[in-house]
Amino acid sequence: MNGRLLDGKSAVITGSGSGVGKAAALLFAENGAKVVCADVREDWNEAVVAQIRAAGGEAEAVRCDVTKRADVDAAVARAVLAYGRLDVIYNNAGVASPMTPQGAMKSFVEATDEDIDRLLAINVKGVLYGCQAAIVQFRKQGGGGVIVNTASVAGMIGWGGALYGATKGAIVNLARRLAFELGPENIRVNNVCPGSMVTNFGIGGLGVDLSQAALDSMAKLQPLGRIIDPSEPAQVALFLASDLAINITGINVPVDGGVAAGK
Ligand SMILES: NC(=O)c1ccc[n+]([C@@H]2O[C@H](COP(=O)([O-])OP(=O)(O)OC[C@H]3O[C@@H](n4cnc5c(N)ncnc54)[C@H](O)[C@@H]3O)[C@@H](O)[C@H]2O)c1
Repeated sequence: MNGRLLDGKSAVITGSGSGVGKAAALLFAENGAKVVCADVREDWNEAVVAQIRAAGGEAEAVRCDVTKRADVDAAVARAVLAYGRLDVIYNNAGVASPMTPQGAMKSFVEATDEDIDRLLAINVKGVLYGCQAAIVQFRKQGGGGVIVNTASVAGMIGWGGALYGATKGAIVNLARRLAFELGPENIRVNNVCPGSMVTNFGIGGLGVDLSQAALDSMAKLQPLGRIIDPSEPAQVALFLASDLAINITGINVPVDGGVAAGK
């Protein structure tokens, strides 16, 4: 991929303070996008915006809890205020399976009401709010626009925790149906579906034991045999957000070292 793929575009990225969202914010800005970075962790988010500005890019930090519709609407409004319009929303914020106090992933039946509500609120409602806010704005602008979401390979096949997989499966199907509903308005909707990565999500998420042995066994579960780097799904998000993907909508792209190929 050559050139600046998002030159002059206005983008909102949720969960931009860490991991995939941080990598995407840096990459989108490097590719000419003006980025509203929206995260509940203000310190991480401010640091990402400072890094973008130091590199000569344009970005704004917004404190945003994606479980609150008003926060998500405000992030989109900030893009319109600062950059005049919205071209892309990347709904990326998400949290991992609930853990036991001992640091193991809870089994499905161990999940409390609070665990279930939290995962549904962040991983599902947060994405729904982001899609709705973007669609409303795209329509005000006369149509056209791009939605990218971070789902997971756990939403495509039986992989990872069942509760987490259920939340990501919802997002996988959301893109498929929205593609039909929004295609006539030239609004594209696609998902990036990462496999196992080591990010802040992993700490207390995929397992707290991040010893080399644990990393090696995680890697061996994937045909390509290496842990996914957060920059890799971010590259796919960039592609899907750009005009290179002008005729692509409703798809789920695994960035999983080949795991989804087995099912
Ligand atoms: N790490 C993995 O192995 C993995 C695998 C597949 C999919 N994913 C998905 O990738 C996405 C990014 O995860 P990551 O691995 O980069 O994790 P991460 O924890 O490193 O980053 C997630 C970011 O989201 C933010 N966030 C959390 N709750 C939020 C909320 N309510 N409102 C706004 N921001 C919030 C966090 O502050 C953090 O900055 C998530 O959707 C996750 O489900 C991760």
